Amino acid sequence: MGYSIAIDGPAGAGKSTIAKKVAAKKGCCYVDTGAIYRAMAYFLLENGVKGEETDRIAKKCQEANIRVAYEAGEQQVFLNGENVNSKIRTEEVGQMASKSAAVPQVRSWLIDLQRDLAVTQDVIMDGRDIGTCVLPQATVKIYLTASADVRAKRRYDEYCAKGMDCDYEEILNTVKKRDMQDMTRAIAPLKQADDAVLLDTSDLSIEEVVDRILEICAEKGC
Ligand code: CDP
Ligand code: CDP
Repeated sequence: MGYSIAIDGPAGAGKSTIAKKVAAKKGCCYVDTGAIYRAMAYFLLENGVKGEETDRIAKKCQEANIRVAYEAGEQQVFLNGENVNSKIRTEEVGQMASKSAAVPQVRSWLIDLQRDLAVTQDVIMDGRDIGTCVLPQATVKIYLTASADVRAKRRYDEYCAKGMDCDYEEILNTVKKRDMQDMTRAIAPLKQADDAVLLDTSDLSIEEVVDRILEICAEKGC
């Protein structure tokens, strides 16, 4: 029997950064489920669908054939055959991902793809509902969080480092809006699973968080 590590939490908590490092240390596969929702959002935006058009989202989502592959340990997301990895990391796509992820048909369209990835390999998977819904039997569950200010500052620094145009206040607002949408939606909302360990990373370095998660894994025997 293999193991699975579920990491959930709000935007900018450090999920993907931490999960990648834990995966490298443990030699397991890192699955970024947010990228799958982002690929769906990108598809919808490309087809002129708006976030408010829930009926159109429910119908159109079934035309998106999303697949993931791993190249040198890096997850690549394919949308109808095209690698869209470099196109999905924008706030516009993030907002649309959050809106479309609240539509039940989108979630059910994407859930088997996520679960299948944990069947044949050891994984660390991050998202919003991994511990509560996608992998309820996960060996280890972590709820990673940080204050909204810290998370917005991290995103701001990340975009600046990439040379992207950005405004701190605007990022703070979109981060808060997305968290609210994700936490209050009717289906699979973002929340800490009863058996998840809460880690607030506001005052922790990346290495401290990674070490803490490795300790928790050791305690759980994986
Ligand atoms: O995946 P998620 O949206 O939760 O966050 P991320 O993209 O992994 O992290 C956002 C940024 O915060 C990255 O640039 C990380 O390097 C940084 N970070 C940090 O500075 N300190 C931490 N303890 C965790 C993440
Ligand atoms: O990296 P960041 O935290 O900004 O977001 P992400 O993980 O790329 O996810 C983008 C959006 O997809 C989230 O705001 C959620 O609305 C949605 N999502 C979800 O509903 N369930 C997941 N398992 C992963 C993402």
